[in-house]
Amino acid sequence: MELKLKSEEDQKIEETLSKIKYKIAVLSGKGGTGKTTVTVNIAQTLADKGYKVGILDADITGPNVPLMLGVENEQLMSEGNKILPIEAGNVKVVSMEFLLEDKSKAIIWRGPLKIKGLKQLIGDVAWGELDFLIVDLPPGSSDEPLSIVQTIKDLNGMVVVTTPQAVSLLDVRKSINFANVTNTPILGIVENMSGFKCEHCGNITYIFAKDGGKNVAKMLNIPFLGAVPLIPKICEAGDIGKPAVKLDDLTKSVFDEIVTKMLENINKEK
Ligand SMILES: Nc1ncnc2c1ncn2[C@@H]1O[C@H](COP(=O)(O)OP(=O)(O)O)[C@@H](O)[C@H]1O
Ligand SMILES: [Mg+2]
Repeated sequence: MELKLKSEEDQKIEETLSKIKYKIAVLSGKGGTGKTTVTVNIAQTLADKGYKVGILDADITGPNVPLMLGVENEQLMSEGNKILPIEAGNVKVVSMEFLLEDKSKAIIWRGPLKIKGLKQLIGDVAWGELDFLIVDLPPGSSDEPLSIVQTIKDLNGMVVVTTPQAVSLLDVRKSINFANVTNTPILGIVENMSGFKCEHCGNITYIFAKDGGKNVAKMLNIPFLGAVPLIPKICEAGDIGKPAVKLDDLTKSVFDEIVTKMLENINKEK
């Protein structure tokens, strides 16, 4: 019989995460597809429905959730030996970014140290009662996202973000494989940057391919959550530090639908 003792760190992580009802990770095959945009807007939509929501910015390669929520200059405070998350309106957030003294410097910690830092952060946060923790993972399916998913353990599901080009098809397959390897249900695919609606004539131009994410979802038999068009307000919102669902009606209705489907799929997985 193998007797494996849990480290104090593992116990703390388990204890902290056990108070959270649903843990959902957002992943993508590569950076720049809109993973952080989808993370903050799903979180904000859930919070506005009355759920208690936190975001764990685990993208140690580029932790920019604080920037997109306009809280990048906040400092993490502690209470006893616990870290208090930053409150960005009705969404709580914790990010490695808050631990950087010079925000303009890239994180140059080597992989294993970054994971260690993140593990400490995960175990030490006083989230309080949370309905949802949305985790912004590093892009891809390398050791880094893998270690993070293995640290969090019982994720309730993953949301895969892709752009509609055919090349991202391969990335989606990798993400699906990643979810399978880590034994995590896939709640669905979000196709981001899907067409551009002209503000003057109303015509939709499909700058990338049309329906790429939708087709790949069908082909791989995984749920499709929705398509987010290229919307200038989304880019603007990210730059000024506000979730776009708060600034733009079209974005709000798109994310309302995505979140509704995501909630249906979580309940199916239970
Ligand atoms: N649907 C969209 N319409 C317009 N701009 C977008 C959209 N999705 C993302 N962006 C912008 O594209 C950039 C990359 O998105 P981001 O969410 O940071 O990607 P990732 O986290 O995958 O690297 C950001 O400046 C963001 O505001
Ligand atoms: Mg990002």
